[in-house]
Amino acid sequence: MPDVRPSEEEIARLNAELDGLRGACETPMRCKLCRTRTKFVFGEGSPTARLMFVGEGPGEQEDLSGRPFVGPAGQLLDKVLQSVGITREEVYITNVVKCRPPGNRTPTDEEMAECGPILMEQIRILKPRLIGALGNVAKNFFLGKTAPGITRCMGQFFPWKDGIELQALYHPSFLLRNQQRTVGSPKWQMWQAMKELKRRYDMMRTGEAAPESPGSKGQLSLF
Ligand code: URA
Repeated sequence: MPDVRPSEEEIARLNAELDGLRGACETPMRCKLCRTRTKFVFGEGSPTARLMFVGEGPGEQEDLSGRPFVGPAGQLLDKVLQSVGITREEVYITNVVKCRPPGNRTPTDEEMAECGPILMEQIRILKPRLIGALGNVAKNFFLGKTAPGITRCMGQFFPWKDGIELQALYHPSFLLRNQQRTVGSPKWQMWQAMKELKRRYDMMRTGEAAPESPGSKGQLSLF
């Protein structure tokens, strides 16, 4: 059943709910990471997004700007999205933890447990139908530490909860360190995975898979 276009009232209601959540969580000193961060990075995108991407936590540029995925990894994520004809504006992008871990270290289990409820609330409000988990930290947040490692389950879809499908994807930072584009390379695998994600996304929204051809958005190609 194709998606019904949300009304202006519905969009305003969702934005108000998200703003309320942001306001309630932004006030610092609820958790340890708040003490060292510059800005709280809540997340951004369409309040009616059916597709959400979740990364690990803000890096330096995100910490300074208060926006997710705007540094080098974010610029590559934009290219990854463009490569399959998805715009950043139509999806919702956020992280497991909302404050930068010092020195970009991996967030601890305790930090993820403290911040995780914010992400769960965002998901409750937004009700995405597909979530792209970017990297091991995000994948494990949703699927638990016993899930296969990202290199084993890259591109795979997992039923998560409330009918939401989760796709395990490489983190863009990993792709920045692995620039080859040959068949079988991490970038190539990411492109195949994104094409399947786009196919499911189109099916969900329109009831049909869009043909894989360059459209008005330009030539689709590996980033
Ligand atoms: N890496 C992440 O996981 N998230 C960001 O927002 C930026 C870099």
